Amino acid sequence: MKHDITNLKLAPAGKKRIEWAEQDMPVLSEIRQKFAKAKTLKGLKVSACLHVTCETANLVRTLKAGGADVLLCASNPLSTQDDVAAALVKDYGIKVFARCGENRQVYYKHLQAAIAHQPEITMDDGADLLSLLHTKYQKQALNIKGSMEETTTGVIRLKALEKENRLLVPIIAINDAKTKNLFDNRYGTGQSTLDGIIRATDILLAGKNVVVAGYGWCGRGFAMRARGMGANVIVTEVDPVKAIEAAMDGFRVMKMDQAAGIGDLFCTLTGDLKIIAKNHFVKMKDGAIVCNSGHFDVEIDIKALTTLAKKIRKNVRNFVDEYTLPNRRRIYLLGEGRLINLAAAEGHPASVMDMSFSTQALATEYVVKNYKKLLNKVYYVPQDIENWIAKTKLKSMGISIDQLTSEQKKYLESWEIGT
Ligand SMILES: NC(=O)c1ccc[n+]([C@@H]2O[C@H](COP(=O)([O-])OP(=O)(O)OC[C@H]3O[C@@H](n4cnc5c(N)ncnc54)[C@H](O)[C@@H]3O)[C@@H](O)[C@H]2O)c1
Repeated sequence: MKHDITNLKLAPAGKKRIEWAEQDMPVLSEIRQKFAKAKTLKGLKVSACLHVTCETANLVRTLKAGGADVLLCASNPLSTQDDVAAALVKDYGIKVFARCGENRQVYYKHLQAAIAHQPEITMDDGADLLSLLHTKYQKQALNIKGSMEETTTGVIRLKALEKENRLLVPIIAINDAKTKNLFDNRYGTGQSTLDGIIRATDILLAGKNVVVAGYGWCGRGFAMRARGMGANVIVTEVDPVKAIEAAMDGFRVMKMDQAAGIGDLFCTLTGDLKIIAKNHFVKMKDGAIVCNSGHFDVEIDIKALTTLAKKIRKNVRNFVDEYTLPNRRRIYLLGEGRLINLAAAEGHPASVMDMSFSTQALATEYVVKNYKKLLNKVYYVPQDIENWIAKTKLKSMGISIDQLTSEQKKYLESWEIGT
C-alpha cells in the first residue's frame, strides 16, 4: 500500500492551502530551490512522523526536491488535515499514512508503515516513531543515519534514552534550536492556541480569568497573547525562576489549587502530566473551560473527570464535551485534551514554521553529509545553520541589521580594557 488517507478527492482544496502557506515560507522555498539544483538527498529514504499540515507539506516537498523518497505519517491522531494529505499523495507524490481522527490502532499501523519504508532518516514530533524503533524494531534502527526531533516533549524522551545509554541513533534536537523554540513555541503556540480555543468555543476573552499552566516558551507565548485580548491572566509554575519571570512580566502567579476556583478558562502547556486533576475540577466554577496545548493528552486528568462526572454530553459543539459534576457545575473539555491548536485550528502559522522546517531541512542535509562522524547522542543544531536561517528570514522581512566593526569585535573578545 502506497498511502492510507481519508479521501483523495479532497486534493484540490489541500493543494490551494499548501500553496497559500508556501507564500509565507520564503526561507524554506529558498532551500527547496537549492536542494532541487544540488540533489543532496538523492535516493535518501525519509520517514517523517509529523503533524500533517500545509506547512509540513512544504517541508516534505522540499525533501523530495532534494531527491529524497519521503513517507509521512501523523504524530497525533487529531492533527491531520485530510485535504493536505490528499494533495500530498495526488499532486506531490508523497506516501502519506494519516487520517484525521484515526484510532490508536490505526495510528500505530501508520507508524509501522513508516518503519517498513526502511528509512535512513527519521523525523519525529514527540518521539513516537523513534520510541517504537527502540522497543520493537531495533534492527531497523541500526540503518538510520540520524533522526530529527521537533518538540520539547520528544527531546525530553530522547535525552532520557541517551542517559540510560540506550540510544540507537544520532539525534538532532531541532526543538532546542533558537530558530525553532523562540518563535515556534512562543509566537506559534501563543497565537494558534488562542485560535483553537476561539474556534472551538467562540468565547470573548476580554475580562475572563485565564489560567496558564507552565511558563516555558509555549506558556509565555500564550499568556502574552491572552493578555493582549484583554484577559486577566494567572500563571501556575513549579520552577521558581520562571515563576518570578511570570510575576515580573505582570501576571498573577499562584498554585493551581487556588487558581482552580478563579479561572474561567484553563490551558495547560507544561509537557507534564495531571496538571489539572480531581482536586481542581471540584473547585471549578460552573462553565469553566479546560484545554491543553502541551504535546500529549496527559496534562488534564480526563480519567478523573470522567469518573467524577455524573453526566457527560459529548460534542455539545464541535471539539467541546460537557461534564456535569455532582455539585451540578458544568466543565467543558476541549479537543479531548489533545493539542487544541491542532485539533480545533490549523496549528502554527506558516511564517514561524518557515524557520522550524528550514531547520529540519538543513539539519537533514547536515546529517547526510556528516553521519559517519555522529555518535548515538542528542546533538544541537549547528550554529551556522541557525545563523543562515535567521539572516535569510530577516532578509525576507526586509530588515537589515548593523554589523560589528573590527574594533567592536576585538573589544568584545578581549579582557584588557576596563574602567
Ligand atoms: N501546541 C503546540 O503546537 C506545541 C508546540 C511546541 C511545543 N509543544 C509542547 O508544549 C509543551 C511545553 O513546551 P515548552 O517548549 O513550553 O516547554 P518548556 O520546558 O519551555 O516549559 C514547560 C514549563 O512547564 C513547567 N511545568 C512543569 N510541570 C509543571 C506543573 N506541574 N505545574 C506547572 N508548571 C509546570 C516547567 O517548569 C516549564 O517552565 C511540551 O509538551 C511541548 O512538546 C506544543
